[in-house]
Amino acid sequence: MAYSETKVVIGGLAHIPIIIGFFYLIRRQYSFGAMLRTGKNALSEKVKTSPSKANATAKPAPAPSKPTAPPAAKPVSTAKKPHADVPVNTYKPKAPFTGTVTENYSALKEGAIGKVQHITFDLSGGDPEFNYVEGQSCGILAAGEDAKGKPHRPRLYSIASTRYGDNFAGNTLSLCVRQLQYEKDGETVNGVCSTYLCNLSPGDKVKISGPVGKEMLLPEEEDSNIIMLATGTGIAPMRAYLRRMFEPTEIEKHKWNFKGKAWLFMGAPKTANLLYDEDFEHYKSKFPENLRYTKAISREQQNTKGGRMYIQDRVLEHAEEIFNMIENPKTHIYLCGLKGMEPGIDEAMTTAAAAKGLDWSELRPKLRKAGRWHAETY
Ligand code: FAD
Ligand code: A2P
Repeated sequence: MAYSETKVVIGGLAHIPIIIGFFYLIRRQYSFGAMLRTGKNALSEKVKTSPSKANATAKPAPAPSKPTAPPAAKPVSTAKKPHADVPVNTYKPKAPFTGTVTENYSALKEGAIGKVQHITFDLSGGDPEFNYVEGQSCGILAAGEDAKGKPHRPRLYSIASTRYGDNFAGNTLSLCVRQLQYEKDGETVNGVCSTYLCNLSPGDKVKISGPVGKEMLLPEEEDSNIIMLATGTGIAPMRAYLRRMFEPTEIEKHKWNFKGKAWLFMGAPKTANLLYDEDFEHYKSKFPENLRYTKAISREQQNTKGGRMYIQDRVLEHAEEIFNMIENPKTHIYLCGLKGMEPGIDEAMTTAAAAKGLDWSELRPKLRKAGRWHAETY
């Protein structure tokens, strides 16, 4: 059979899509293998992640596509966003999880102001499992109805335990809740959800939604530096971080061995109101190179102007060291607690930055954009 030049050229061209398809298949195989070898799942270190959970939080995998040629010159990106695997909204407020209270005790010492409770819930038996990581919050749906006869809207609470829970079994969640109380027209008004939570007893069933939030997550790098600024119950996420970093059983359980510097600034009205103070003092004594703990006890200590000592006054006292730390790109700052503390902290940071020739109004958005400034106030 005689071949014309045109036939040979057409025959050759007809093979091009087959060759492209062949190379595309090899590339897909290779990048999938690489993803399996290097892929890190934020929850994979938690022993109890079940297949049902994995199915529930992951988006359904797309159906396998036919091996067609890829669009020309479109790069295939296998890079994952940080914290992409962190679960969010596993249980929505309309279909919450029902947890069981295991503990509810005062987090305060004799002579403290107000009521703050440490409350733990058993999360066992969820399908999907109620998993969370340090720095997330959950929603609580108080029992009963509001004035309009509707179910109470959920209130958010920062989770105070690590993903392993206070018992390290990976099936509990703890909160640190201040009962809201204020005076109105000569009467004491009790906050709906905080009062409900503070009065719970072991065995009580509670509707929990979430987990929610990625704002307050810890960086994955073990040599990060973590500056924490907390007032009152704003200590909740910091307690989770500090347990993750320094609690011996936590360290045994996970492969994340914190090697950086952590510095906690804690604001409370009285010494008796310092939350989890003994634990933090203990961590400090065991890890003096890694943990600093600075307290601002507003109604017992005075700032240089003779006013109440707030954490922003402590920030100013240590401005030089704080800014030396911030210059290191591995330093993250976490702010949690009273909304009112934000302007004070901003003012202190502005003064501290100026002393170093820096403009805080320019620096703060940069830190935020770099994922190093984390704030959750309420
Ligand atoms: P409500 O019955 O909802 O009453 C609150 C309302 O009372 C206010 O909206 C206001 O209208 C009014 N009010 C409040 N104070 C006064 C006053 N002095 N005078 C007049 N009116 C007033 N709380 C914690 O205890 N621990 C936590 O870890 C925690 N984490 C949170 C995390 C996030 C992300 C957010 C957003 C909030 C967090 N909170 C936390 C606050 C919590 O969600 C609730 O807002 C708080 O418990 C009050 O809810 P409540 O149902 O008891 O009060
Ligand atoms: P104070 O109430 O003495 O003015 P708690 O939630 O346990 O009451 O603790 C909150 C702490 O934060 C208290 O010491 C409180 O002081 C303090 N605080 C109140 N307002 C501010 C503010 N604007 N900035 C920083 N700290 C504040």
